[in-house]
Amino acid sequence: MTIAQKWKIHPEHGWLHGARPEDPVVQDPDSGIWNVYGYREAVAVLGDPATYSSRTAQLFAEDGGEVIADGDLLQTDPPDHRRQRDLVRYAFTPRLLAGVEPRITELVDELLRAVADPGDFDLVDALCSPLPILVVGEMIGLPRSDVPKLERWMREMAASFGDLSPAADQAEQERVFAVTAGLMEQVVEYLREHVRTRTGAAGEGLLDRLVTAEIDGERLSEDYVVAFVKSMIVAGHSTTSMMLANTVLCLDGDPELDRRVRADRSLIAGLVEESMRFLSPIAATYRVTTRATTLGGRELGAGSIVMVWMAAANRDPRQFPDPDVFDLSRSPNSQLGFGHGIHFCLGAPLARMEARIALNALFDRFPSLRVREGATPKAHPAFDTTGLATLPVVAQ
Ligand code: HEM
Repeated sequence: MTIAQKWKIHPEHGWLHGARPEDPVVQDPDSGIWNVYGYREAVAVLGDPATYSSRTAQLFAEDGGEVIADGDLLQTDPPDHRRQRDLVRYAFTPRLLAGVEPRITELVDELLRAVADPGDFDLVDALCSPLPILVVGEMIGLPRSDVPKLERWMREMAASFGDLSPAADQAEQERVFAVTAGLMEQVVEYLREHVRTRTGAAGEGLLDRLVTAEIDGERLSEDYVVAFVKSMIVAGHSTTSMMLANTVLCLDGDPELDRRVRADRSLIAGLVEESMRFLSPIAATYRVTTRATTLGGRELGAGSIVMVWMAAANRDPRQFPDPDVFDLSRSPNSQLGFGHGIHFCLGAPLARMEARIALNALFDRFPSLRVREGATPKAHPAFDTTGLATLPVVAQ
């Protein structure tokens, strides 16, 4: 039995449970959306922004679109995308990340020391969820005391995503957008206040860089900076949290794997890549065609909505032999969990670093870490994510 079967993670997604979609590209007869399941086809879509645009927010409920799209790199196409990405790319260079590394180690230790009862705790509450917010919060200079509030907003937002698909009925889309937009507004209000107090400061942080940055000779507006910082927090929180928890779940499911990685920590990098392939936190992303095109032998008209299932592509046997086997030694492991092409995840090096530090610390502190017997870890409800929202564990 696979991990997804054991814990009943998204039973509706056949590829997580060993069943293959018959075709790599399939149109949903009700919504007209094109679902892309094949690896080669997913790479073709993500690698061709001229044919497959990222400006998808307008496809969703009318009022929600802008709140969600503003300042979000993921909603831009070339040439704007390159200009905007260049502004923040520097924050994720190996040199800058090396500077952040010792701080992440301290934060992980602090969080694990604060666990009141290692015999029985929730790993998502204790570590997976607070860590990414603490890290990004420090990168943008947010006061530590505000982090729990931000984390609460992020978790409420993740929990509110029931069915945000364009295929969902109008009432459901509007309900989700109303909740999400309300939470976003609180986050934006909070960040606006923070950005105002930082404007004019001559620091080296990400925020200082943004408030003094220029695109085409013009300073970025306050609205833009706020929206940008918001999108970094949103993009980096539940994704990293899910990836950490998913990886620990994979170890729980395979004691021999757990033993091997603990004994040889150089295997952690491969463990994280395989966990990203096996349980991809962002299961799918959207694009919209700018012109008629052919994909996997299918004819797609202009303006078609395309849903690229990276989680399914990551189990395409044409790319990954025995895709339902968790195999630490896959090489190369060209998993698509961080996307592909111009929108490839900017935070991937940071997320990988957080995972390496957190897993090492868990191994050092707890010789044994298992899912609590009788407890059931819960997956996030959103159909386009694969990741845990709770992970009750027992450590020794
Ligand atoms: C395991 C954790 C993470 C996962 C699974 C993940 C996944 C992804 C994916 C799949 C994309 C591309 C989506 C698309 O092409 O439509 C993406 C883009 C992005 N991610 Fe991540 N991400 C993670 C962590 C982070 C972190 C920690 C940050 C920042 C602090 C971050 C910031 C971004 C940004 C800014 C983009 C947009 C890049 C662009 O459009 O050029 N991500 N991420």
